Amino acid sequence: MTVTKAVIPAAGLGTRFLPATKAVPKELLPVVDTPAIEYVVREASAAGLKNVLLITGKTKGAILDHFDRAWDLEAVLAEKNDLARLDAIRASAELAVIHAVRQPAPRGLGHAVLCAKEHVGADPFAVLLGDDLIDARDPLLTSMIAVREALGGSVVALMRVPLDQISLYGSAAVEPLPGGVVPSLPPGSVFRLSGLVEKPPREQAPSDFAIIGRYVLHPAVFEVLEETAPGRGGEIQLTDALARLAEMPPEAGGGLHGVHFTGRRYDTGDRLDYLKAVVRLAADHPELGADFADWLDEFSAELRGRAEP
Ligand code: G1P
Repeated sequence: MTVTKAVIPAAGLGTRFLPATKAVPKELLPVVDTPAIEYVVREASAAGLKNVLLITGKTKGAILDHFDRAWDLEAVLAEKNDLARLDAIRASAELAVIHAVRQPAPRGLGHAVLCAKEHVGADPFAVLLGDDLIDARDPLLTSMIAVREALGGSVVALMRVPLDQISLYGSAAVEPLPGGVVPSLPPGSVFRLSGLVEKPPREQAPSDFAIIGRYVLHPAVFEVLEETAPGRGGEIQLTDALARLAEMPPEAGGGLHGVHFTGRRYDTGDRLDYLKAVVRLAADHPELGADFADWLDEFSAELRGRAEP
């Protein structure tokens, strides 16, 4: 079964970005010149996932407008012969076929994923969390899909984090697999996972391997989610359902593997991380990067000057 569907939860209230997100969905906040969620849809599309389901909520309508054609704007740009901008606004509408379902109440990531059940049906599917941007130069989903094709079950993406940050993530109990189990991936990059804990205190974390927001899931996850009781924060946690899948036999859709990602990831989950992501991506931007990096050098010198007594 090849993976063709991507699910992108986008129902969160964005409270960490208030007041910016009072009327604008946090998924549309620009990272340089592109809304955060467009990077995520581009990533899904580049991995061959052209069927994208957004899990939305109230006040998220503008996200759907962003991925739709904008005939009035296109007519104005065409009239002015502004072909670069015309291409840019058309491109976002051509990345994928976008579907949407509403999460009726904010009951957690696991519950948001469960809202995709009817749309996804019986096929494996990917979940991409919008707070994590993965650099297009370091394709991760393609590797995860290769692991799922070689080993079955479900797959999560992992990164090592300093132990004092593990309580911000799901933490995985990992067992290395021999090199060559997935021929396209380097030895040591694929693990069998025997357990997961959502946002554990440092001393209870099974390891420093943190789940980052990319998953390729067996559809058996839906039945498990239906039976998953609220966990951390009183919310239905995807991590708890995956911990259960890790214990289930392959014939029931169980089995969980992790891919160790060592590429570039930009966190946009809170204001400080968001600012860092904007600066990093601005410095790499094909048109703005060189000028921006020059200015950043000058500005850093100015800041160092300010710090001197
Ligand atoms: C979610 C997951 C967590 C994961 C994280 C990755 O948490 O529940 O297991 O490590 O995404 O970004 P959130 O950051 O939405 O609180």
